[in-house]
Amino acid sequence: MQDPIEAAVARLRAGELVAIPTETVYGLAADASNAQAVRKIFRAKNRPSTHPLIVHIPHPYRKGMSASERDEAWVALLSQWSRDVPQEALILAGKFWPGPLTLILPKAKSVLPEVTGNQETVGLRCPDHPLTLRLLEKFAGGLAAPSANRFGRISPTTADHVRQEFSGGELMVLDGGPCRVGIESTIVDLTRLSALGPVILRPGMISRQEIETALNLTASDTRSDAGPRVSGSLSAHYAPRTAMAFAGGLSSCPDRARKIAWVHFPGSERPQPLRSREVNEVVLPDSPDALARSLYALLRELDGGGFDLICLEDLPSDSRWDAIRDRLLRAVNGSGQA
Ligand code: TXA
Ligand code: MG
Repeated sequence: MQDPIEAAVARLRAGELVAIPTETVYGLAADASNAQAVRKIFRAKNRPSTHPLIVHIPHPYRKGMSASERDEAWVALLSQWSRDVPQEALILAGKFWPGPLTLILPKAKSVLPEVTGNQETVGLRCPDHPLTLRLLEKFAGGLAAPSANRFGRISPTTADHVRQEFSGGELMVLDGGPCRVGIESTIVDLTRLSALGPVILRPGMISRQEIETALNLTASDTRSDAGPRVSGSLSAHYAPRTAMAFAGGLSSCPDRARKIAWVHFPGSERPQPLRSREVNEVVLPDSPDALARSLYALLRELDGGGFDLICLEDLPSDSRWDAIRDRLLRAVNGSGQA
């Protein structure tokens, strides 16, 4: 039998799509230098063509390299995609790659407009998954890949989720097991450094504080800006079909809601509107890492559970929960529309 990595490389070189595992979520990958292949991603996902894609790049270190050789290796690699590689990019790459971080940089001339949604910037990420790192090394190019879900739906964190999203097709799915991080990468825009400093476009499990510490900055030096350039920032995203609400936003429970899921942390009390109702209890892991890892699988399972209402306990307010809160707010906003 052919080695799955060899088979994936052959498909990608032939301009086909391959679903790839990463530590965050599965991606739907195409050769980033092949415009026709990249267009297939938008068709398969039903994604608007103006939404830019992240280019996944290999890890350039070899064992035994010195710090300056490592920086040179990143500059050589990043310069293929970006016309200006600031020191901040080298610091963040050296500290967090391979890992759940995407950097937005000014794009090099050669980067296809299909990849960048016609913008002058490009998103780059070196993902931390052994299969995909081997694939990237053998492919020896960049792979444009959004999350491998249909536009606006829940991101996949297992190979089976991907198959459910694209059932009936010929899509090759490289099965790398369940994703270790479970929610999408932190996106940091480094294209407006002199005016704004680094701007966090999407929160992820690499926190704002970690970015600030790595760059020797304080909280007032970084900004968040979930502008319309990031598709994950549309308010209705990651959307389950079942109606979903936070307990804090549920003033009363509609009578027609017969089958109700009460999703909560260990030991917490049922909110007032659910007290006289029959509920199915689902207990959440009480650490942010563990919840992130299981979040999308849980949302899929809940969505398939035939509930009329999914009621979620409000998340703790500290910043370790920011990325999860962001995804759940979008899920609540987009829920119940199908
Ligand atoms: O963890 C992840 O980032 C996953 C895995 C597969 O790597 N990918 C992912 O891709 O979440 P996607 O397309 O679902 O979300 C990437 C986001 C999009 O919302 C896109 O708008 C934003 O990154 N993005 C990409 N390039 C950009 C750019 N040049 N400027 C601003 N935002 C950009
Ligand atoms: Mg996505």
